[in-house]
Amino acid sequence: MKISVFGLGYVGCVSAACLAGQGHEVVGVDVNPAKVDLVRAGKAPVVEERIGELTAEVVASGALRATTEVAEAILATDVSLVCVGTPSAPNGSLSTEYLQRVAEQIGEALKERKSETRHTVVFRSTMLPGTCLGLLIPILEKHSGGTAGVDFGVAVNPEFLREGTSVRDFFQPPKTVIGEFDPGSGDVVARLYEGLPGDVFRVPIPVAEMTKYADNAFHGVKIGFANELGAICRALGLDSHQVMDVFLADRKLNISPAYLRPGFAFGGSCLPKDLRGLVYAARQADVSVPLLAHVLPSNAEHLHRAFELVARTGKRKVGLFGLSFKPGTDDLRESPLVELAERLLGKGYDLKIHDANVSLSRLMGANREYIESRLPHLGQLLAGSVQEVLDHAEVCLIGTSDPEVLAALPHGSGPVLVDLVRVPDAAARRAEEGYVGLAW
Ligand SMILES: NC(=O)c1ccc[n+]([C@@H]2O[C@H](COP(=O)([O-])OP(=O)(O)OC[C@H]3O[C@@H](n4cnc5c(N)ncnc54)[C@H](O)[C@@H]3O)[C@@H](O)[C@H]2O)c1
Repeated sequence: MKISVFGLGYVGCVSAACLAGQGHEVVGVDVNPAKVDLVRAGKAPVVEERIGELTAEVVASGALRATTEVAEAILATDVSLVCVGTPSAPNGSLSTEYLQRVAEQIGEALKERKSETRHTVVFRSTMLPGTCLGLLIPILEKHSGGTAGVDFGVAVNPEFLREGTSVRDFFQPPKTVIGEFDPGSGDVVARLYEGLPGDVFRVPIPVAEMTKYADNAFHGVKIGFANELGAICRALGLDSHQVMDVFLADRKLNISPAYLRPGFAFGGSCLPKDLRGLVYAARQADVSVPLLAHVLPSNAEHLHRAFELVARTGKRKVGLFGLSFKPGTDDLRESPLVELAERLLGKGYDLKIHDANVSLSRLMGANREYIESRLPHLGQLLAGSVQEVLDHAEVCLIGTSDPEVLAALPHGSGPVLVDLVRVPDAAARRAEEGYVGLAW
């Protein structure tokens, strides 16, 4: 393929050299003439393992050349990879200045391009969801006079390389994410990486933009978590690596997809108690652990979001499905649903609750004492059937995946549904009137 690469920084120069090495015809474009001159001389503008030899090789073979002329590059190629920087602005926001500038320049050049084949603009820079559709495509359309998806293709293809091992990472990517404006644009990107290992995800453009933030935020959280835990271990005289060896060996609950799907707040008799205890122990040892200390406040915020979804409906008669701290148990200790029910009750909402496990254990006696002594105010609100709650409610909170509840949920009519668990048909329900969710 004939490819332009805009921006010869870490991402651009590695992409350009590796794609040239794969047999593509590549033109590197940068506003900085010093970087262009370096590439022309067969030298890499960045220091990275293997990039020096690779650049020398592909420049000598003619597979990679460099220019400062945007129009020349666009006219000679079928696809552009935009790898310009997106640094932090002084207020912390993401600066899209370079992206906007390059979109204007590419748009102008596309106006001049008269070719049988459609040019596809692929954004590799990291950018927040909405940047491509809301900002960059309008700029490309304004400056080219054409329409995205018709006169030119557009895709977002985030980069997952790590500085230091970026050439290796290019050939061994953890995954390939293609946010496509239309299938034709996605096909062009897929062809660029044909033969490389890893799963390929073809997704809407804003999803592709967000995946990069999901990754980097998680990586930051992982490091923060490990370092805070390490600091507590050190204060307590433990070998933190020995602790983490055990932690990491658990592939069922720790290093696994467990607990990583957005849903409702956590609760129960262990997580809140043990987080509280650990943070207290850290404080006692004079170890500051802001990340761990903010997990419970973060959880409380999430509970508040659920309350707000009800409040915003303006309705007063509320149904709640689920009361125990998670499905499949009758344990009510530190249940976030109990917390939510109490908040609703305290604010004067007219509440009815259904939880089959809690009702059963109340009848059988196992939880009777707990409910009667600790939660008598909620015990009185327990309904005998799913239907009784549906008949009562103007707005219904779904806090359980109990199949009996899921089967009874109405479509489009009846109470407003506030989904806390992401019901199995959530994707279809999103389009329906009267359905809102915490975990869309
Ligand atoms: N560095 C990484 O490891 C890494 C990894 C993944 C994603 N990213 C993302 O990729 C993007 C690029 O990062 P980087 O580290 O390569 O940036 P960089 O600052 O090293 O390089 C950006 C280059 O773009 C050039 N440029 C600016 N405006 C231009 C224009 N109008 N036309 C042509 N060139 C122009 C600059 O001169 C510079 O050489 C960023 O959004 C970054 O967040 C970086």
